Amino acid sequence: MTDIQFQTVAVLGAGTMGAGIAQVCAQAGSRVVLQDIQDAFVQKGLQRVRESLEVGVQKQKVTPELRDQTLARLTVTTDRAAAARTADLVIEAVPEILELKNGLFRELAAVCRPTTVLATNTSSLSLAKVFAGVDGPGRCLGMHFFNPPPIMKLLEVVKLDGTEQATIDAVMAYAVRLGKDPILVKDSPGFASSRLGVCLGLEAIRMLESGVASAEDIDKAMVLGYGHPMGPLKLTDLVGLDVRLAIADYLRKELDHPGFAAPELMRKMVAEGKLGKKSGQGFYKW
Ligand code: CAA
Repeated sequence: MTDIQFQTVAVLGAGTMGAGIAQVCAQAGSRVVLQDIQDAFVQKGLQRVRESLEVGVQKQKVTPELRDQTLARLTVTTDRAAAARTADLVIEAVPEILELKNGLFRELAAVCRPTTVLATNTSSLSLAKVFAGVDGPGRCLGMHFFNPPPIMKLLEVVKLDGTEQATIDAVMAYAVRLGKDPILVKDSPGFASSRLGVCLGLEAIRMLESGVASAEDIDKAMVLGYGHPMGPLKLTDLVGLDVRLAIADYLRKELDHPGFAAPELMRKMVAEGKLGKKSGQGFYKW
C-alpha cells in the first residue's frame, strides 16, 4: 500500500470513537496503533473493532479477507510516545477536556517527526486552544468523525488560521481514501455539525421535560416527518448524555446563546449515570 500518504497512523483514545477511527484507517490500508492509558481500555477497543468487523461481514459490507487484513494492520499499546513517534498522522480521540488535549499535543509535538500531521477528533472545542503552544501549527487541524465511525460518511475537517494548505489537501485526500465525504470548516465553536445537532437534541429534551410528547413520539416526529435516520433523543443516547452535556455547557459559554443551556433533566440523568447506550439506560433502555 505505497500510495497511501498516511501509512502509519496513531489513534489516541480507544473509546467508541477512537476504536471506530482506528478501524476505518486500518480498513483503508494504513498501519494503525491504537493507544489508551490502560491495557483494559485498549483491549475493549480492539474487541469493539472485532465485533464491528464481524457485523460488517454478516451484512456483506466487509469481506472476510478485509476483516483479517484490517485486524493484522491494527496493534494496540499503552505507550503514547511510542505510538506517536513513528506515525505519519496522529488522531486524538480522548475525552473532551481542553487541558487534557492541549497537554497531550504539547507533549507529542516534541516526540513526533516535524512532518507528522496532528489531528483532533474534538466535536466542538476551540482548535486554537487545543493546539495552543504546540510546535508546528501548520500541521495541526481537526478530523471530526461521526458515530458510528465505520458507517457514517461525513468527515468534518476543521482548519485553524495557521493550518498549511498542504496539510488540508493531504487530509482531504485521505478522507476520500477512508471512504468518507469530507467538508471543510473553519475553527468556530461546534463547527458545522455539533452546533446544529446539539441544539436539536437539547430542545427535544426540553420538550420531553415539559411533557409535550413521549420520547418515542418526539423521535418519531423527526424520523417520519423530517426523514432523520434516528430521532434526537435516541441519537443523544447513542452519542452519550455526558458527552452532549459537556458540549452544551461549552457552547452555551462560547456562543452565549440560550438555546444551548442544558435542561435540568439532562443534568439529573447524567448525575444518575443514565448516559445512554453505553450505560444501558438513557431516554431508552438499551
Ligand atoms: N460495518 C459495515 N457496514 C455496516 C455495519 C458494520 N459494522 N453495520 C451496519 N452497516 C451498514 C448496513 O449494511 C447498512 O448499509 P445499507 O444502507 O447499504 O443497507 C447501513 O450500515 C445501516 O445499517 P443498519 O441498517 O444495520 O442500521 P440502521 O439503518 O438502523 O442505521 C445508523 C444505523 C447508521 C446508526 C443510523 O441510525 C443513523 O445514521 N443514525 C444517526 C447517526 C448519527 O447521527 N450520528 C452522528 C452522531 S453525532 C456525532 O457522532 C458527533 C460527535 O462528535 C458526538
